[in-house]
Amino acid sequence: MKFILSLMSIILYTLFISSLVVSIAADKSSNSQFQSLSHEETIVSPNGVFELGFFPLGNSNKSYLAIRYKNYSDETFVWVANGSYPINDSSAKLTLHSSGSFVLTHNSNQVWSTSSLKVAQNPLAELLDSGNLVIREKSEANSEDKEEYLWQSFDYPSNTMLAGMKIGWDHKRKLNRRLIAWKSDDDPTPGELSWEVVLHPYPEIYMMRGKEKHHRLGPWNGLRFSGMPEMKPNPVFHYKFVSNEEEVTYMWTLQTSLITKVVLNQTSLERPRFVWSEATASWNFYSTMPGEYCDYYGVCGGNSFCSSTASPMCECLKGFTPKSPEKWNSMVRTQGCGLKSPLTCKSDGFAQVDGLKVPDTTNTSVYESIDLEKCRTKCLKDCSCMAYTNSNISGAGSGCVMWFGDLLDIKLYPDPESGQRLYIRLPPSELDSIRPQVSKIMYVISVAATIGVILAIYFLYRRKIYEKSMTEKNYESYVNDLDLPLLDLSIIIAATNKFSEGNKIGEGGFGSVYWGKLPSGLEIAVKRLSKNSDQGMSEFVNEVKLIAKVQHRNLVKLLGCCIKKQEIMLVYEYMVNGSLDYFIFDSTKGKLLDWPKRFHIICGIARGLMYLHQDSRLRIIHRDLKASNVLLDDTLNPKISDFGVAKTFGGENIEGNTTRIVGTYGYMAPEYAIDGQFSIKSDVFSFGVLLLEIICGKRSRCSSGNQIVHLVDHVWTLWKKDMALQIVDPNMEDSCIASEVLRCIHIGLLCVQQYPEDRPTMTSVVLLLGSEVELDEAKEPGDFPKKESIEANSSSFSSTNAMSTTLLTAR
Ligand SMILES: *[C@@H]1O[C@H](CO)[C@@H](O)[C@H](O)[C@H]1NC(C)=O
Ligand SMILES: *[C@@H]1O[C@H](CO)[C@@H](O)[C@H](O)[C@H]1NC(C)=O
Ligand SMILES: *[C@@H]1O[C@H](CO)[C@@H](O)[C@H](O)[C@H]1NC(C)=O
Ligand SMILES: *[C@@H]1O[C@H](CO)[C@@H](O)[C@H](O)[C@H]1NC(C)=O
Ligand SMILES: *[C@@H]1O[C@H](CO)[C@@H](O)[C@H](O)[C@H]1NC(C)=O
Ligand SMILES: *[C@@H]1O[C@H](CO)[C@@H](O)[C@H](O)[C@H]1NC(C)=O
Ligand SMILES: *[C@@H]1O[C@H](CO)[C@@H](O)[C@H](O)[C@H]1NC(C)=O
Repeated sequence: MKFILSLMSIILYTLFISSLVVSIAADKSSNSQFQSLSHEETIVSPNGVFELGFFPLGNSNKSYLAIRYKNYSDETFVWVANGSYPINDSSAKLTLHSSGSFVLTHNSNQVWSTSSLKVAQNPLAELLDSGNLVIREKSEANSEDKEEYLWQSFDYPSNTMLAGMKIGWDHKRKLNRRLIAWKSDDDPTPGELSWEVVLHPYPEIYMMRGKEKHHRLGPWNGLRFSGMPEMKPNPVFHYKFVSNEEEVTYMWTLQTSLITKVVLNQTSLERPRFVWSEATASWNFYSTMPGEYCDYYGVCGGNSFCSSTASPMCECLKGFTPKSPEKWNSMVRTQGCGLKSPLTCKSDGFAQVDGLKVPDTTNTSVYESIDLEKCRTKCLKDCSCMAYTNSNISGAGSGCVMWFGDLLDIKLYPDPESGQRLYIRLPPSELDSIRPQVSKIMYVISVAATIGVILAIYFLYRRKIYEKSMTEKNYESYVNDLDLPLLDLSIIIAATNKFSEGNKIGEGGFGSVYWGKLPSGLEIAVKRLSKNSDQGMSEFVNEVKLIAKVQHRNLVKLLGCCIKKQEIMLVYEYMVNGSLDYFIFDSTKGKLLDWPKRFHIICGIARGLMYLHQDSRLRIIHRDLKASNVLLDDTLNPKISDFGVAKTFGGENIEGNTTRIVGTYGYMAPEYAIDGQFSIKSDVFSFGVLLLEIICGKRSRCSSGNQIVHLVDHVWTLWKKDMALQIVDPNMEDSCIASEVLRCIHIGLLCVQQYPEDRPTMTSVVLLLGSEVELDEAKEPGDFPKKESIEANSSSFSSTNAMSTTLLTAR
């Protein structure tokens, strides 16, 4: 009896406490809870992140019942109730019915409604800080199971994916949550582009354009989506994919206070992610999918693979050959490849290929409980099974997935670690040539041969015979390989007014740059290699090779090239505003760049460099980042240019050593200037210097009397004394926001630290610039090379920076 009494008192006490909590919670967030909403009212989430109301879109007088960010100067919606129904007056009203459903009425018409998952007792509508509009029971405010909503807007997404939102299927409710693009930026009517989970035996997320597949992420392989190697565990995003009897869903959550959204865009046919930048008070572009040629669905046809670092990018799988060689060679790849010789079924074997995004999984079977050996046996027994591999690559790998029919939309990553292994069925005749032992020997021989060829070329090059013997024909066939448009010389001559002096806009170690206008009206910049240039040719070829393969909005775009009689010309999009040094080091032009613009430029350069380092699959180290190599377009977007001395790396090999140091003093990391060691971290160093230059409006090296003063040292000295704001360019004093500028200086100082391992990667820099994440304390910046001795050796060094590339030989 006593026991029961005490139990009851505990229960009563608990009830009392919880009712107290309910009433407190209700009081605190009463602003976010409502029963009905008229045209003039808005509902704000508890911490003021989102608002719900009837909001106009663009300049029209039409409004929509929508949710949008409240504080992030964002006119666009993250959710809209009915995008096909614009409301043209103020008579609309949203009502929560006692059954637990919303009804939106306008001019006494029912425009939109919801249905409740179960019969409601005492329903309540609430806008949450996640951007989710929910209907729940009043009494469930503190219930453990927050997911028990009668209805939630997250189940009916518009074109925007927010943190915590699930995309995919709820099997019980037969509900498919998918993103659907708007028709256009100012018309939220559903467009034809969608992003959704498709329920194959091995489920995948597709971007669909109407009925056509536009892009696919690849299936979830236990660690990530097969087509997204960059989806590694990181301190910012947490990715979660669930596939079981109840649901097949994908979502991401945030582990920091970052404000970010993913928006499906019908105009660009992409799915970009944006990150809110406090400093510029704008949404900054972060990344997008599809990001490169090979990400578009099936560009190479069946039984082939696409590799963005190869040229041409499409190649048949081992043992396969183009079905129509003629069409294939004229780059019509839709027919794809077929087997060289037919399968025998019983005596077939498998070729192992590494580093892949696995093929489209429409025609697959998955067996989660069998291992790779059994998978092989099973595949071999079924004559229509074309390939197999582990369905889960986590740990040592487990499960079995088998493909039937043509293998579609395979992508090859340069770094085998980024992709997966696939076993492809081949007839015995094709397997003979790739038996492991033989192939190993072949590999050794071919590597040796390659090294031999490289050495030979190198020595030829040393004697300058190489360049002279490179005839027009050589170049042409070489450039043909790059899938780069060839422009006719006569067009370029006409466009540049016969390379007249008046059209010349620049001059460097390589030759001259001319402005021109094509008949279409497009303005171009033509980089012309001077015939007597000593160093130019190899750098030129290097530049073509690299830049033809990289495409990013913060990298200057190569439109085509032109070859005539041992002369090469590269044709770029023209940047109206010239280079950054022209602005920041000029006391009058500097006024045109206020702080928000400068910050925008800093972020753009950071993203361009991040793309080079991480996202382009090529892993490019620029090696000569500086103000004069950053160009500005008509809206002052920065674009990194001049890839003449850039280096590429495959995989994790992201360091190199050279005896030929190229770059520009003042921007060079100590380990590179002194020991010739370069890495992505030496680019980060240059970025840090450039960032500080942009803030200070001063060159990294300037002479004061007889002394050479280093900007970085100067900033560091003031930073230690808490007086860093003294160095801010007087031209942007009015527009500068002290806390933001200080944060940027801090990031700059982190980038120029002495030891490469202390410096952040560009991925971190981009995140740090766009968020409020706490920064590490900066250590002392790197020593600059002792100027006098090197300068004595360097005849081409110029403190005014007119020369594009400074060439030096290491001691
Ligand atoms: C939104 O802005 C207002 C005023 O500018 C500010 O008081 C409020 O704290 C901000 N809320 C959030 C969530 O940032
Ligand atoms: C919006 O309404 C105002 C006043 O009712 C009117 O003057 C204006 O022309 C309208 N604009 C459009 C785009 O319909
Ligand atoms: C609003 O649109 C309805 C039809 O959707 C139309 O009947 C009505 O006249 C319009 N009202 C105004 C003020 O334009
Ligand atoms: C949105 O409004 C249109 C036009 O009135 C209507 O046909 C459609 O059914 C509505 N959509 C939803 C989801 O209620
Ligand atoms: C993949 O395998 C790992 C380790 O064996 C396991 O923890 C994980 O749950 C598996 N994932 C899936 C999606 O089956
Ligand atoms: C969609 O893409 C177009 C073209 O790139 C761009 O102008 C527009 O701003 C984008 N819209 C959104 C909402 O990002
Ligand atoms: C799947 O198999 C069907 C029937 O054989 C075929 O028509 C379809 O093209 C295949 N799809 C893919 C993506 O392989």
